[in-house]
Amino acid sequence: MAATVVVGLQWGDEGKGKTTDLLAESVSHVVRYQGGDNAGHTVVLADEVFKLHLVPSGVLYPHITPVVGSGVVVNPETLLAEMATLAERGVDTARIRVSDAAHVIMPYHVTLDRASEARLAGGGIGTTQRGIGPAYADRASRTGVRMGDLLDPDGLRARLERAVPEKNAILVHVHGLEPFDLDALYDQAIAWGERLREHIVDTVGLVQRALAEGDHVLLEGAQGTLLDLDHGTYPYVTSSNPVAGGACTGGGIGPLQVDQVIGVLKAYSTRVGSGPFPTELTDHRGRHLVEKGHEFGTTTGRRRRCGWLDAVPLRYAIAVNSVSSMMVNKLDILSGLPEVQVCVGYRIDGRIVDEWPVRAGDLARAEPVYETFHGWEADLRGARRLQDLPHEALAYLDGLEALAGAPIALVSVGPERTQTIVRSEQPARTIGTAGEQDASKRRLLGRLPRRPIAGSVATARAPGAG
Ligand code: IMP
Repeated sequence: MAATVVVGLQWGDEGKGKTTDLLAESVSHVVRYQGGDNAGHTVVLADEVFKLHLVPSGVLYPHITPVVGSGVVVNPETLLAEMATLAERGVDTARIRVSDAAHVIMPYHVTLDRASEARLAGGGIGTTQRGIGPAYADRASRTGVRMGDLLDPDGLRARLERAVPEKNAILVHVHGLEPFDLDALYDQAIAWGERLREHIVDTVGLVQRALAEGDHVLLEGAQGTLLDLDHGTYPYVTSSNPVAGGACTGGGIGPLQVDQVIGVLKAYSTRVGSGPFPTELTDHRGRHLVEKGHEFGTTTGRRRRCGWLDAVPLRYAIAVNSVSSMMVNKLDILSGLPEVQVCVGYRIDGRIVDEWPVRAGDLARAEPVYETFHGWEADLRGARRLQDLPHEALAYLDGLEALAGAPIALVSVGPERTQTIVRSEQPARTIGTAGEQDASKRRLLGRLPRRPIAGSVATARAPGAG
């Protein structure tokens, strides 16, 4: 019995689709466990680029059953459009299974998301405006519509009769917008149900049967830990739980059924939307990362904010996800930078801290304390083994691993499957005993300056970096 969770350790867009792609051969089911069409997975397969928002990337492999779990919010319009595009490109979409308990993003959710962001005029969350937050809010207020309701005409009408008048009151009286017509919404929802009937099932039973039969199930998170509703930079977060714990609730498995948690990160940081980002670079180095890394959102096309890797939230993410090993993506993008930095702590109101602050206000005032590594010029895209990497890039990976406290198993130097370096086979769990954690923390603290430092950043040479 084996379930592997693939989770983002930053603000999303870490390249989780590529990790799934690498593991696909050994997997029978790929389960999306949260989020909705706010996500974007880019998978490059045999020279073809697939951009998926809702359908799990497992759909591209004929032996895999792609599952949309109960923790996902589904916009049926997006799902049907994505299935149609995949089918046009010869991908078999008949295998897609969608949880009957997954909540539906109704048209009024999308309108409400847009209206509340517009109302906050620049002070909003910077959502993807896909109706994600309002759909999850209805789930929590017990006024949501679930995928199973689309197959139950009487039940559906009762759900809509309860929800729509309230939504209309808000749309009209708070936002000054037009109300939705209940009958038209009902007809649209029934039509979705008819088209998706074969796909809507009890996915918990499906996943549990697969595990009981000894199949390997992969649970694929969307977004990342720093956008998690509980663990992220609240309120600048999404409205679900991308952390590995979300794989249990939203994927229909128990914690002891997970045997590996693969944490995915980029060799630098990116963030889309509003919210604090202590290591953000707004100068030529930020432009280097945006341009070389093609850092534009898959879903909204927005330019991503870019900056150095931040080991402070990374350590937090490794702990709350119980990450067993990591995949570092886009190492090749750092080529050409004279120096590469990693944030190892913050100075907040004159105090040095190495722990992820709970309050967004603290984070907004945090000045990063950096460790500086030598950069490298070499193009890494052709590297296939560790020996192919320049020693500065190796030192960066070693330093990163020591700062993070979890093993880096895989390194990616390009979007294609072959552009991957296996650094270590061992999926060891290093967040083990409290003693080990303390030792790892002492190592990190040992790198922090003991006295307040002059200037805004401190630099130290990486071990082995000369
Ligand atoms: P929402 O999920 O559309 O409500 O947006 C909430 C926040 O999460 C915003 O800052 C979005 O930019 C961010 N976000 C949502 N999905 C993604 C994603 O797939 N990648 C990166 N950021 C995302």
